[in-house]
Amino acid sequence: MRVLNHLFEKNREWADGIKQQDPEFFTRLSRQQAPEYLWIGCADSRVPANQIVDLMPGELFVHRNVANVVVHTDFNCLSVLQFAVEKLKVKHIMVVGHYGCGGVAAALKDEGFGLINNWLRHVQDVRDRYADALARLPNENDQIDRLCELNVVEQVNHVCQNTIVRDAWARGQNLSVHGWIYDVGDGLLRDLGLCVTGNDERDSIYSSAVEELIARPVRTSRTRQS
Ligand code: CO
Repeated sequence: MRVLNHLFEKNREWADGIKQQDPEFFTRLSRQQAPEYLWIGCADSRVPANQIVDLMPGELFVHRNVANVVVHTDFNCLSVLQFAVEKLKVKHIMVVGHYGCGGVAAALKDEGFGLINNWLRHVQDVRDRYADALARLPNENDQIDRLCELNVVEQVNHVCQNTIVRDAWARGQNLSVHGWIYDVGDGLLRDLGLCVTGNDERDSIYSSAVEELIARPVRTSRTRQS
């Protein structure tokens, strides 16, 4: 199939539907974007950022990669971060992991898929850092879930550690960094209970988030959205 007609048809129906509700929507959006949120999530097809939080085009700036990893020298992620923080002036950055993440599972189990193993090595750094806490869990599924959670906390910390976010806070910019996890099994987001809003609280919030996370059963969040 050289041309994916069904996708173009669905696109036309989607755009028509929005224009029926709001005829000026795309014209208005074409002039500027002013999202308040930057979503850093996994590339997994089951974790579509906008749909999960029911936001329209223009409302969510998005960066996705395998296993929602924030690497200190990844210019792709850093460029997104810089543009979002310095130009768009987003107010919130959320790192969103998800249970059942194939990348995290492969990292835990040391499965080999070639090149991607080099990327997942960053998740294995998280696994190795918390080897004792993971070893105390009764089975592999719990270990994968816990590593999904710990990976979010670690990547939140990475977001807070780079010059872009540190400089924004140093100049008094209003910016919060959140750690969330999504369950593909029920469609619900959980807040992992860490929210960093300045350089002075970064280290203490990170340490207490890790401590509390390790102490509680897997798949239970500190601030349940009931
Ligand atoms: Co994933």
